[in-house]
Amino acid sequence: MVKICKVGLIGCGGMGRVHLSAYKKIPNAKVVAVADIDKKRASELARQVDAEWYEDYTMMLKRVDIDMVDVCLPVYLHSKAVIDAAEAGKHILCEKPISTNLKDADEMINATRRAGVKFMIAFMYRFDPFFIKIKQCVEDGTVGTPILMWLTNLWRPSFMEPGSTQTWFTDKMKSGGMLVEHTCHWIDQFRWWSGEAESVFAHIKTVEEGVTVEDNASVIIKFRNGAFATITQSWYSYLSWHDVGIVGKNGSAEMLGPYDVLKIRSKGKSVEEFKPILPSLPMEDISTLRYQREIEHFVECVLEDKTPVVSGIDGRAALEIALAAYRSSQEGKPITLPL
Ligand SMILES: NC(=O)c1ccc[n+]([C@@H]2O[C@H](COP(=O)([O-])OP(=O)(O)OC[C@H]3O[C@@H](n4cnc5c(N)ncnc54)[C@H](O)[C@@H]3O)[C@@H](O)[C@H]2O)c1
Repeated sequence: MVKICKVGLIGCGGMGRVHLSAYKKIPNAKVVAVADIDKKRASELARQVDAEWYEDYTMMLKRVDIDMVDVCLPVYLHSKAVIDAAEAGKHILCEKPISTNLKDADEMINATRRAGVKFMIAFMYRFDPFFIKIKQCVEDGTVGTPILMWLTNLWRPSFMEPGSTQTWFTDKMKSGGMLVEHTCHWIDQFRWWSGEAESVFAHIKTVEEGVTVEDNASVIIKFRNGAFATITQSWYSYLSWHDVGIVGKNGSAEMLGPYDVLKIRSKGKSVEEFKPILPSLPMEDISTLRYQREIEHFVECVLEDKTPVVSGIDGRAALEIALAAYRSSQEGKPITLPL
């Protein structure tokens, strides 16, 4: 008989909905329960997949039939939910970033180790065919050893607008800040391509009134292998500009938002435009495919007792680099890792 992974989803907001859509397309996973303090959100998602719903996720964790939980809560709530789920013996997929601070991250990692459960941070770009291709180009020598990497990400998320219901994003104590909450994706990509970081130098600034997070940042990360990465990120900008890439020893790779074509240039060769062969899906589904692949991977790890390719340690490392950027901006000097 085919084994089905039974899932409890915690948090039925924006990402809870995205994850639920992905589960609907994964035949060996079934969301059997959802939880949210907002009854309307919980009952609406539960109805879609014929699941039970709970206002209090700790009641859901008592269910013995649940194999894994998927934590889609605001960042400051990740640590308690992950520790509670680990103590209940559930495998855990947790949205990025791991947490707002290293103490919580360490407690989460230790709790999952103690309980012997699988724990993965949901860095979905690790499962995106374009970013997998960049990693391959580093490894097979097409791009080769990383020299410099960059991210320019200038936009204005809807939660920056007055009246947003997602006020936790712009509260530093709750989201950790822009670099922690958002840039962690790209920090993780750079670590994936280039290895561990050595030092971080940054300037950050808050311009928008009424928010406690930085909304503009320039960061330089130096890696132990000699490569460096620059990040220019704004949540204040009325532009919408996304550009990410790498220059390596033998070539370079670059992608412009909306990340639908990867340009690879290498010595003596003309530009290759990489477009993965994807199922023919509408654009909106293609952009959610990376979430589906990430969840499929974790479900496979649970069902087949495999180790997830992204760990709590990866989540902690991305957080540490973002926190080093804050310290650098405050102290006006580069910060050497570890913190
Ligand atoms: N990977 C990505 O592309 C991506 C994009 C956006 C957000 N995220 C991450 O996903 C996570 C959730 O973000 P979001 O955009 O879904 O936020 P959201 O505000 O849309 O949803 C959070 C939900 O959690 C619920 N909630 C709050 N406290 C709760 C509690 N104690 N118990 C149960 N439910 C509770 C809220 O009612 C809300 O429905 C965050 O970690 C965020 O950084 C990831």
